[in-house]
Amino acid sequence: MDKYYITTPIYYPSGKFHIGTAYTTVVADTIKRYKTLRGYDTYLLTGADEHGQKIQTVAKDKGMEPQEYVDEMAKLAKELWAKMDIGYDDFIRTTDERHCKIVQAIFEKFLAQGDIYKGTYEGMYCVPCETYFTKTQLVDGKCPDCGREVKLMKEEAYFFNMKKYADRLLKLYEETDFITPEFRKTEMINNFIKPGLEDLCITRTSFDWGIKVNSDKDHVIYVWLDALTNYITALGYMTDDDTLFKKYWPADVQIIGKDIARFHLIYWPIFLMALDLPLPKKILVHNWIMMKDGKMSKSKGNVVYPELLIDRYGLDALRYFLLREMPVVQDGIFSPEEFVERFNFDLCNDLGNLLNRTVSMVNKYFDGIVPVYNGHKNEVDSELEEFTKTQLEKVENLIEKFEFANALQELWLLIARTNKYIDETTPWALEKNEETEKLQACMYHLIENLRKIGVALIPFMLETANNILRQIGINGENLKTWESIYNYELIPEGTKVIEKGEPLFMRLEVEKEVEYIKEGMKQ
Ligand code: MSP
Repeated sequence: MDKYYITTPIYYPSGKFHIGTAYTTVVADTIKRYKTLRGYDTYLLTGADEHGQKIQTVAKDKGMEPQEYVDEMAKLAKELWAKMDIGYDDFIRTTDERHCKIVQAIFEKFLAQGDIYKGTYEGMYCVPCETYFTKTQLVDGKCPDCGREVKLMKEEAYFFNMKKYADRLLKLYEETDFITPEFRKTEMINNFIKPGLEDLCITRTSFDWGIKVNSDKDHVIYVWLDALTNYITALGYMTDDDTLFKKYWPADVQIIGKDIARFHLIYWPIFLMALDLPLPKKILVHNWIMMKDGKMSKSKGNVVYPELLIDRYGLDALRYFLLREMPVVQDGIFSPEEFVERFNFDLCNDLGNLLNRTVSMVNKYFDGIVPVYNGHKNEVDSELEEFTKTQLEKVENLIEKFEFANALQELWLLIARTNKYIDETTPWALEKNEETEKLQACMYHLIENLRKIGVALIPFMLETANNILRQIGINGENLKTWESIYNYELIPEGTKVIEKGEPLFMRLEVEKEVEYIKEGMKQ
């Protein structure tokens, strides 16, 4: 069985996670579910990035010890991922002993190899981002990532000699296509590599909430060396039991947001080169979920937390929206109006009605028993079969390219086409005219298409997918495989739909719900 290793960034537990942070994890989970369905032995890693000055400050403000604070936050993160049905295999915390020990060992290895030297660091430092910037990188004198104030800081520190690896990195960029989308590569070359790669400061003495350098205890390891290595320490790299590491590394896809591209596209490959390890096969850089008035921020009162939407509209409504509205390589916009509209149009009308109409017709015309496949009896049957196959192939190709918004769009075209098929075949007229064979063919095609749509939805919206398959009486595992969606003749004789269709999604009152979400955003 081929393996497939997927990682999310490890999140800063500096506050509650909003739908932006949840987005990366939903994308990762969708990939995992898809690859599992395709027969891969998958492994999904997520976790928490728990060291650094910012965490220390937040904990202090709350009157807590940093460890106590991050323990609580890790618990909350796990609760959220459980609520969002994220199928992660491991949750790494940078305060885990298994991680700290190896980070220390990696540091000493780099030191011994001459990749690390001691110097003095001076620069403009953004506390929330825990990043130093050069003056030219600042935007209007402020942090280019978060727009907040920066301050001039100076300290004795260890540096990683990035320059030494610059040529190898460029060569790697030229020879491989491990970065998606391509333009991020150009961005890195033009903005950071060509102007001269700067060595990276990798320790601090200005705070102590971090992993201590074994050979120089005044220094703690700066968060990015600590954070990035989580992807291998979680697998037991450099330990006595490195079975997982041997099995899963290199990662097949590492998913990150655009703001942390520099760290993952430059420093991470260089650290791996210095460790003489293979590089990840793909780093997928996604854009951001924005609000109509820009970034989500507490001060603007426009932050959307996943719980707000899940508790009222269900998990799948949120997952659908995130994956459908966010084109991965462009920013997507969240607006309450759009959310409610998509819910009503796509989920209630298109998908929900197709299921409902079909289940009730099979009950009405055939006592709930799905007729057996009898070939093409209506003029449009073969056309529908053709169209369905083409659409499903498109969906598959787009998922393989991680273009989930486009994949869902194509799947919804299939849903629309299947709804149209009902209007074209007019089953009610077929029944009236006693054209039984045509009516049988029509019902069979509808059930088959719903099965295919159900299976194709498994990676995106598992609960809805299972609900559809249950309502149309599909039980056999062979009818739920990805490969089965290209076959039209699989539904066994005697398959029975449920007696009374259950609505997948209840239609929302637009104004009331828009108001509800807007209110929730202010909390
Ligand atoms: N701790 C670092 C990552 C270390 S990985 C070795 C970090 N954490 S974070 O919590 O600030 O961000 C985690 C992820 O959430 C990033 O990939 C970031 O891009 C993503 N997002 C944060 N806000 C987002 C949106 N508004 N939209 C989409 N993704 C967003 O960075």
